[in-house]
Amino acid sequence: MKVTAKAPINIALIKYWGKQPSADIKPYNDSISLTLDALYTITTVETHPEGLFSYRLNDRLILGNDLTRIWYFLQTYFPKFKANPSLKITAKNHVPTAAGLASSASGFAALTLALARYYKMSETPEDLAKIAKQGSGSSARSFYGGYVSWKTDGTIAKIPGDTDTLCFVIVLVDANEKYLSSREAMKRTVATAHSYHTYVKESQKKALNMEKAIADNDFSTIGRLTETHARHMHETMSSAMPPIQYLTNESRKVLDVVAKMQDQGIKAYATMDAGSNVKILTKTNHLDDIQTFLHNHGYRDLILSKISNKGAEILE
Ligand code: DP6
Repeated sequence: MKVTAKAPINIALIKYWGKQPSADIKPYNDSISLTLDALYTITTVETHPEGLFSYRLNDRLILGNDLTRIWYFLQTYFPKFKANPSLKITAKNHVPTAAGLASSASGFAALTLALARYYKMSETPEDLAKIAKQGSGSSARSFYGGYVSWKTDGTIAKIPGDTDTLCFVIVLVDANEKYLSSREAMKRTVATAHSYHTYVKESQKKALNMEKAIADNDFSTIGRLTETHARHMHETMSSAMPPIQYLTNESRKVLDVVAKMQDQGIKAYATMDAGSNVKILTKTNHLDDIQTFLHNHGYRDLILSKISNKGAEILE
């Protein structure tokens, strides 16, 4: 038997950065994301012809720690794999791997859905999310399209809202691997950043305001909340010991360009995750202006994406 699944990446407007001390992965504050349509992972699972276990990512056989991480995930959450670990996994990221472009979210979502079909398990988004978030918390949001919320009580749901004219322009500052995994970085932030508690309270307030702005279809407020929240998250992690700095001078230069766009009335709002790339949330009618602006400042390595109304799906 052979199953192929596709899962999109999601970009959080209000981010998940810290786990409560519970085994079932609950975030310290509510997060709200948008699901993208141009960036995704496609994963095929099938019985291994020689009865072995193998994992190939982007045409490379994965070994060492990365393989152990997947092996542990499969052994723990897929009892049928534990009973008979003969499996060939082939995954392809249509997104630069591990550059803070959420490839682990789309990766764990695609893998979980493919395996749920392969092992004939429940395929409700709720049940899939419960498993996938053990591999990568943010992957829980990739089972839904549009705006998605993941709350502190563990619930994950689509938020009704108009996403037809929204899009992201991603400025690729660096497509290399991130220097510190988000798992380690958030653990360190929770344990050592003196302002983490204030950050969580503030993020929770912003999440509530974001839900209201989405209901009101108030794009300026959605954008402003997105940008101030991301800046606050990066400030908070830079106060951890030792400090965590995903943003580089290059990222800061892009942020300055975004500020210039805003001065000229362009609705463009920046957000950054566990990497140096800058993601600009905007509306399709501003796309031409933004691209021209970025080109004029020497940025040519751009990825454009609209919002997907679908989450992870089985392809065949
Ligand atoms: C900055 O989901 O990769 O992208 O659950 O520890 O694997 P783990 O973390 P992960 O972290 C994502 C962090 C973020 C914010 C977000 O997507 O909400």
